[in-house]
Amino acid sequence: MKRTLIAVCALGVVAAISVACFFFWPASIEAVQATHAQPTGSALVAKGEYLTKAADCAACHTAPGGEPFAGGRAFQLPFGTIYSTNITPDREAGIGQWSDAEFVRALHRGIGRSGEDLYPAFPYTAYALLSTDDVVAIRAYLSTVRPVSLRNTDNTLAFPFNQRYVLRGARALRRLPHPPQSDVRDEEWQEIRRSGR
Ligand code: HEC
Repeated sequence: MKRTLIAVCALGVVAAISVACFFFWPASIEAVQATHAQPTGSALVAKGEYLTKAADCAACHTAPGGEPFAGGRAFQLPFGTIYSTNITPDREAGIGQWSDAEFVRALHRGIGRSGEDLYPAFPYTAYALLSTDDVVAIRAYLSTVRPVSLRNTDNTLAFPFNQRYVLRGARALRRLPHPPQSDVRDEEWQEIRRSGR
């Protein structure tokens, strides 16, 4: 009897530690490297501008009447309000200090700079399909927009939705696509660039 009790307790402790690790283990980050197909300089920025427009980042990251990409647009949900963030290159209020690897991780895996889980109101599940080259190009373009010092507005979500670690549970239930390293549509993109469309 005593042995069974000890075994059950031990199992309980192992289970509790596993659950804690699952929810609170720091998120990993992978180094990013562009492929040889990635353009450089102003061609990279032009590619990024095209992709940023196609992905409609400005629609969500611009408040009504606000500065482009400075965030602050409210998304009202049944359990509170989420605000989009400042993705201008401002070093304090925006993403000026983010590394490319952190930016790629956010778009591919929905993880913020400090490793926090981002809400799927940010449609990273769709952006996970973008190649790493494409995401780096978007970053290159965003680095050229006007920096805006508008601070992010805190979300007002009810408990437990304000606990970001809860999102890990939801994330585990759906598999994110594995992004291609280079863009399968590179030739199409080169053609667009050549013809200046
Ligand atoms: C449908 C609306 C929507 C679209 C479209 C969208 N975002 Fe977002 N994005 C959000 C919201 C809302 C957040 C805040 C999520 C949170 O607080 O967890 C966010 C967060 C982010 C973050 C994390 C910023 C931070 O400070 O933690 C980055 C980076 C980002 N978005 C970049 C982009 C880029 C680049 C695009 C276009 C490719 C884009 N977003 C398109 C809504 C959107």
